[in-house]
Amino acid sequence: MKTKILKLTPNNPQKLKIQEAAKIINLGGLVAFPTETVYGLGANAFNEKAIAKIFLAKERPADDPLIVHISETTALEKIVLEIPDCAQKLIKQFWPGPLSLIFKKGSLIPTNVTAGLDTVAIRMPSNKIALQLIKLSGIPIAAPSANLFGKPSPTIAQHVINDLDGKIDLIIDGGPTDIGVESTILDVTTTPPTLLRPGGITLEMIEKVIGKIEIHPLTIDKSSIIEIKAPGMSYKHYAPLAKVILLEGNTNAVMRIGKQLAREYNLSGKKVGFLKNKKDLYRFAKTLFKSFRKFDQDHFDVIIVGGVPETGLGLAIMNRLRRAATEIIKV
Ligand code: TXA
Ligand code: MG
Repeated sequence: MKTKILKLTPNNPQKLKIQEAAKIINLGGLVAFPTETVYGLGANAFNEKAIAKIFLAKERPADDPLIVHISETTALEKIVLEIPDCAQKLIKQFWPGPLSLIFKKGSLIPTNVTAGLDTVAIRMPSNKIALQLIKLSGIPIAAPSANLFGKPSPTIAQHVINDLDGKIDLIIDGGPTDIGVESTILDVTTTPPTLLRPGGITLEMIEKVIGKIEIHPLTIDKSSIIEIKAPGMSYKHYAPLAKVILLEGNTNAVMRIGKQLAREYNLSGKKVGFLKNKKDLYRFAKTLFKSFRKFDQDHFDVIIVGGVPETGLGLAIMNRLRRAATEIIKV
């Protein structure tokens, strides 16, 4: 299949061109599009066959559920069984934006969207292209990140081209994404709600609106698999081909051990890179997956990275680093 590339201006996207993309969605095709977090690979959320194509193109296991994207809250009532009070508050505060909420699923959503679960993840993206695409399609769009399974999520259109060219109908190039890590996922079917994946809407921001929430153990420590809520949570994600070594501890110790490790790997003929631990967490998150992909492109064998404090966006960054890491060393 020939994949078409459509370049759009992010802040003032041309409606006519998005109309073309919406038509593809309506015909059961696959369209990659920018969101404020990462690029998504979208299909009609009501069309079981179109959804199956997403899993094929991404080589994604069927037990890893998708997130459904909507452009107005009225769409929510049609696809979920109930909207808890806490969800109402969060929606008012944070939608459109990088927050996915897990609800009890209604019957309109086919089972392959949710990997057979009786819950469904929903979010309203704030990216103008994404919102227009959903609006013009007139249906909810199911979309996982637009990468091959196991690869870091795409933050520019070129990443999508590298992974999915020839496998999908259209890629909308809307420039680099703002946040750079995937949306926060919060399960509002539990009391209190449970944080399943940290992201752009931080734990602190959520608790300010609805009070204390539960944090799923996998969010913090990938070794403590107690109860896996969504099968997708157990997979190693976001990983570059290179071996990622995460050093956690105070800056001086991280520097010292990092240099020592680099020397050892260099001696054994390995190409070693340092992922600069940026002070500005927004910049760090925004460039994280792009850096991973760049290291692979430049054939690095080992990437050494220091941890960041787990507050604000730092929780999301550490979650992605731990999931990418082959080795975590506390120094
Ligand atoms: O920012 C994002 O969330 C991006 C953009 C495209 O919106 N999407 C995204 O989807 O990152 P992705 O590939 O991470 O896949 C969705 C993940 C699953 O792996 C799973 O962990 C969780 O969302 N998920 C989806 N439905 C769920 C459910 N019913 N219960 C628990 N977790 C669910
Ligand atoms: Mg993904």
